[in-house]
Amino acid sequence: MLQIDIVILAAGMGKRMRSTFPKVLHPLAGKPILSHVLDTARALSPKKICVIYGYGGELVRQAIGNNSNLVWVEQAQQLGTGHAVKQALPYLEESDVTLVLFGDVPLVKSSTLTNLIDKASKDSLTLLTVELANPTGYGRIVRDPETNYVRAIVEEKDASPLQKTIREVNTGIMVLPNSYLKSWFDRLSNSNAQGEYYLTDIIAMAVNDGISIETANPAFDWEVLGVNDKIQLAFLERTYQQSVAQKLMEQGVMLADPARLDIRGELICGDNVEIDVNCVFEGNVRLGNSVKVSANCVLRNVVVADGTKIDPFSMLEDTKIGENCRIGPYARVRPGTQLDDTVHIGNFVEIKNSHIASGSKVNHLSYIGDTEMGKQVNIGAGTITCNYDGAFKHRTIIEDNVFIGSDSQLIAPVTVTKGSTIGAGSTITRDTPEGQLTLSRTKQVSIANWKRPEKNKN
Ligand code: UD1
Ligand code: MG
Repeated sequence: MLQIDIVILAAGMGKRMRSTFPKVLHPLAGKPILSHVLDTARALSPKKICVIYGYGGELVRQAIGNNSNLVWVEQAQQLGTGHAVKQALPYLEESDVTLVLFGDVPLVKSSTLTNLIDKASKDSLTLLTVELANPTGYGRIVRDPETNYVRAIVEEKDASPLQKTIREVNTGIMVLPNSYLKSWFDRLSNSNAQGEYYLTDIIAMAVNDGISIETANPAFDWEVLGVNDKIQLAFLERTYQQSVAQKLMEQGVMLADPARLDIRGELICGDNVEIDVNCVFEGNVRLGNSVKVSANCVLRNVVVADGTKIDPFSMLEDTKIGENCRIGPYARVRPGTQLDDTVHIGNFVEIKNSHIASGSKVNHLSYIGDTEMGKQVNIGAGTITCNYDGAFKHRTIIEDNVFIGSDSQLIAPVTVTKGSTIGAGSTITRDTPEGQLTLSRTKQVSIANWKRPEKNKN
């Protein structure tokens, strides 16, 4: 079986990004451009992956992290793509072939690469090419007019006017036979328009050595587009989002507008899911059957069970939500929260690191943090669990069937025992007895002869 090594070229500075941040770390769909390329590379189960890094190297290495078959190879000076691949030579085994990928071409599909590799062998060189309406800036694929075999790649800056009319271009992605690489790299010269060691010059050498050149094409042109500036980055972001939206719609998800949806991670949906405009899904999100997410919601690492509705402008993070719940509008559910079935969380309510059992309602203007709440609890408007004493966080326990009157504070640690009713405006500092009304309020008084002050009319 053909064993493949992968070399990813990522040493370029990316001047046109006009950023001090390395180009390959700019995010696309919430993760670095280079991580997209690495994920695709890993999907091909290569023997090893060499990343050629240069500009911003330490930052890039830190951001991506280490992995067992990942080899970081420094190219101290960026002397050209041929020079870049040459740096990996010590790590490439003679009996393998090498797939060359670019660190700034994030959307190439693994199926396209598999198709390319299927055409490769230890004794041929296989190029991924594409026909472009406007080939400006790309290396042109020069074919023999009689046999139609590939003879060479000529870079734009070195091309004759006739060669510039060729529309078939080099994507830069290719499969190379390792046993020939040393001899080709030794012969590379930089006497060309850019003074660089071009990887593309090895094609003519291979032809001279009697090596056959095969070509394959990507399924979509956008797969081979690179990111050179922020305009191209934004274009690829939209292209990616469109393809994800398309897949969701094929699975039956109802999207109010596929152009106004952002998935920065993975979204898995059940049947009859509806998503309104301007929603952002980050990390891993799972929506059960018949879940409705209204406009302008952000969900990060959230699991939502069947039938739950999330109303507009809600932000949910690291949370598990049961069936038939009603969340929002304007709800904020923070990490560590679990809501059981039929829980209602209303407007301007913040829940953090809490468990709320089934049937309980926190409908208006409340903060519930570090709380264990039982079933069928009703929390009145403006209730606050005071969980922080300035140094430590404490838990509040609210048992089943509790009713908390509006504008109450529960000073943790405290337990509101089952069936308790708390009168509105109370500050609860001690555990409450079961089934009783507890309230802490100064008695209401009325002063009969009191006169409101008045301004002197003279
Ligand atoms: C290259 C190809 C061209 C092809 C085009 C496709 C060569 C000589 N030309 O041109 O045929 O049509 O890509 O986009 O290969 N890099 C390094 N080290 C270097 C130089 C580059 O790591 O010394 C990396 C860059 O970071 C980038 C990739 O290689 O990821 C391509 O380099 P770039 O300078 O963009 O090549 P192009 O001129 O676009
Ligand atoms: Mg380029």
